[in-house]
Amino acid sequence: MYYKQSSNVIYRDYGSFGYITDNRNFGYKLTTDDESYIGDKIVSESGAVFLSELSRSPQSIECLTEKICKRFLDVDYEIIKKDAIEFYSMLENEGFVISGDTFEKCNKNDAGFSYKKNKYKRLKNTHIINKGMENTTQAFFDKYFNNEPQLTSIHVEITSRCNERCIHCYIPHENKTEIMSTQMFYDIIKQAREMKVLHVTISGGEPMTHNDFVKILRICDEYNFSVNVLSNLTILNDDIVKEMKHNHLLCVQTSIYSMDSHIHDSITQKKGSLDKTIASILTLIENDIPVQISCPIMKQNIDCYLDVVKWARLYNLNVNSDYVIIGCYDYSARNVDCRVELNDIRKIINQRIDMDYKYLSSLEKEYNKKRDMRVDDYICSVCNSSICISETGNVYPCAGWQGYTLGNIKNTKLKDIWKHSEKVNYLRNLRRRDFPKCLSCTEKEFCTMCMVRNANEHPQGDPLELNNYFCDIAKINKEVYFNRKHI
Ligand SMILES: C[S@@+](CC[C@H](N)C(=O)[O-])C[C@H]1O[C@@H](n2cnc3c(N)ncnc32)[C@H](O)[C@@H]1O
Ligand code: SF4
Ligand code: SF4
Repeated sequence: MYYKQSSNVIYRDYGSFGYITDNRNFGYKLTTDDESYIGDKIVSESGAVFLSELSRSPQSIECLTEKICKRFLDVDYEIIKKDAIEFYSMLENEGFVISGDTFEKCNKNDAGFSYKKNKYKRLKNTHIINKGMENTTQAFFDKYFNNEPQLTSIHVEITSRCNERCIHCYIPHENKTEIMSTQMFYDIIKQAREMKVLHVTISGGEPMTHNDFVKILRICDEYNFSVNVLSNLTILNDDIVKEMKHNHLLCVQTSIYSMDSHIHDSITQKKGSLDKTIASILTLIENDIPVQISCPIMKQNIDCYLDVVKWARLYNLNVNSDYVIIGCYDYSARNVDCRVELNDIRKIINQRIDMDYKYLSSLEKEYNKKRDMRVDDYICSVCNSSICISETGNVYPCAGWQGYTLGNIKNTKLKDIWKHSEKVNYLRNLRRRDFPKCLSCTEKEFCTMCMVRNANEHPQGDPLELNNYFCDIAKINKEVYFNRKHI
């Protein structure tokens, strides 16, 4: 019998335990995917030894047993073989491991992502096999790391250069000039892997303008990261598709603003851009590479953004359509003229409820969750599980918040910035209680207060100064929710 690690899982060995997770905790789902498919698991110290010998290439049980025997010198070969078969079979039932009678069959049984048919195996939600642990994975991590925040996700802007000039872009156009060296990217990935980071988002500017883009993808694959690429897809080529195709942990997010090329191209300010992006999406679909579409809603596309949603449905693609446009990170707010009016936001929320029967119940779920918020809750994942690194090596709280530098990886290790940067610790220590107006607000259950939205529209970039536009949106959310709930 042959065994391999399933191609859509990520594994990190912590020595005293192992952590295995499904890439769909980070990647994109098809419109037909069932949310309950996502899973992760903590395995015991000996389980971690058994798991770390598995690779993405099938190995015979005899070969695996010999390797494991070298790590348990006083245990009999036959006992280890029996335990290994039992352990791998249990993980196979949960979708993390693949087996087959031969090398070829084992590879063939590893279906991976497909548009034609959702071939992923069903995974249970969360499993803990550590003796005495009957808690969730997050609770286990919190306890193990003594509530110290763990970095799990990094956003890397490999270049600020871009071949488009979108009217809403939070990156000031005159800053779209720099490129990250491939060596710097490699250093970041090596450091992130040592810190047990699981997921990397590669973005820009337009990341495909980087001459070493294929090499950068290869580095992520080599270090076994879950990867999301954010790209306008106007300069996709065969080499990139080939590299993307063989990385099962990779997803792509691209941007379409309208199916009408005049409107889309007037937003990107690049003639011919819609045709190129659509052609590339179809190429990625043909090659079974997961794609998601981002479609920010603005004055320019409010009357036609739903055509993007309808088109995407034909291909089973998810569309993220959001009316939240954040201000430029230079605090100039020069890009926010394109934002939709508050009345239009009311229309959009009602449209969502009409089109998606689950939307109202998702609002209700959020409402109930936020009702239980406590004063010492974190504001968001910034400096708690995620961070952003730009092409200059500067480290920021998140991609849109580049007026606030936390450090630079040219002179400080990522782990030191994460642990010791004064600014990181300041942001990490901010809690709901630091926003007193929000604590007593009657709309707080309908609001996603966000520090970058505050900072980027404040002349001095103050993240604590609330942005009234978003307070107005919260009022509308509340009003529509209660109107529609009682129908
Ligand atoms: C900054 S771009 C980088 C990747 C690539 N150039 C692209 O456009 O897809 C990532 C996403 O952010 C969105 N975006 C840009 N500026 C924004 C803003 N001010 N507010 C909200 N989303 C924004 C873009 O539409 C795009 O979907
Ligand atoms: S949104 Fe993306 S494509 Fe548009 S200008 Fe900004 S970085 Fe370039
Ligand atoms: S609506 Fe304004 S005051 Fe109320 S919770 Fe949101 S940001 Fe705070």
